[in-house]
Amino acid sequence: MKTNDIQTRGLVLLGCGKMGSAMLAGWLDGGLPAQSVWVIDPNPSAWLRGTGVHLNAVLPDRPAVVLVAVKPQMMGEALPTLAALGNGETLFLSVAAGTPIAAFEAALGETTPIVRAMPNTPAAIGRGITAIIGNTRTTPAQLDLAEDLLGAVGQVVRLDDEGQIDAVTAVSGSGPAYVFHLIETLATAGEAEGLAPDLAMTLAKATVAGAGALAETSPESPTQLRVNVTSPNGTTQAALEVLMNEVDGFPALLARAVKAAADRSRELGK
Ligand SMILES: NC(=O)c1ccc[n+]([C@@H]2O[C@H](COP(=O)([O-])OP(=O)(O)OC[C@H]3O[C@@H](n4cnc5c(N)ncnc54)[C@H](OP(=O)(O)O)[C@@H]3O)[C@@H](O)[C@H]2O)c1
Repeated sequence: MKTNDIQTRGLVLLGCGKMGSAMLAGWLDGGLPAQSVWVIDPNPSAWLRGTGVHLNAVLPDRPAVVLVAVKPQMMGEALPTLAALGNGETLFLSVAAGTPIAAFEAALGETTPIVRAMPNTPAAIGRGITAIIGNTRTTPAQLDLAEDLLGAVGQVVRLDDEGQIDAVTAVSGSGPAYVFHLIETLATAGEAEGLAPDLAMTLAKATVAGAGALAETSPESPTQLRVNVTSPNGTTQAALEVLMNEVDGFPALLARAVKAAADRSRELGK
């Protein structure tokens, strides 16, 4: 991680719950000294207290970054405490779902560099994917720094327009829940075919995890990987004829689900 600027000027973490802790753990594992980090959180966990970071202490004057990881509904209360750091050289990096860049500009000042990010829960095991978009005040070096920081918990992709965040939220932000539901329903379907619940769940989890890893690492596309395991008139083909049905199969169902999530994200951002 290119953390020189952070080591000299400091990094502030506003809110250190699930997402904040996952990121902090990634940075500390990556070699960021705990002494460079200031955390503001009303109820610090035992883990957090043991890290050696500055906890609810006086903040540095011009930290390199403020990472905002409070729940969107806490934003109105939490942000004004940091308004003094706005309109300066401190980059505000927010992972809050549904809070647009304009809301940060309104609370912190129009010339504040702000990067809005949408991560997802596999960040907790370093396997997340985060999409980022900066406002016009963000320098290329600050975008690189944001990418570096978020890279501690997985992959990072850049967007060219904040409007894309709603679709990203609907695909990767909410997506882990769709996959968890796939695991649940695959296991239940296995039970219906006579498997014991534990065995069905073990098979479903390993299948989704293994297929996901294969899709991610294989040089072949998911489409080709699917074709490779589908023998003519075999068992897989029988299932895929149901799943790929244009009227009520996966394509129609997922399109509806992703659209519902994106619509809700647009609504929340208003
Ligand atoms: N979890 C995810 O996978 C995920 C994915 C995408 C985006 N996000 C975003 O990440 C943000 C954090 O989510 P989370 O799941 O990590 O939530 P969380 O576990 O509830 O963490 C939020 C933390 O902020 C603390 N907090 C509350 N009010 C505060 C204040 N005024 N000043 C400082 N800290 C305050 C909370 O303390 P208390 O618990 O004591 O209130 C809690 O420790 C959200 O905006 C969410 O949209 C999360």
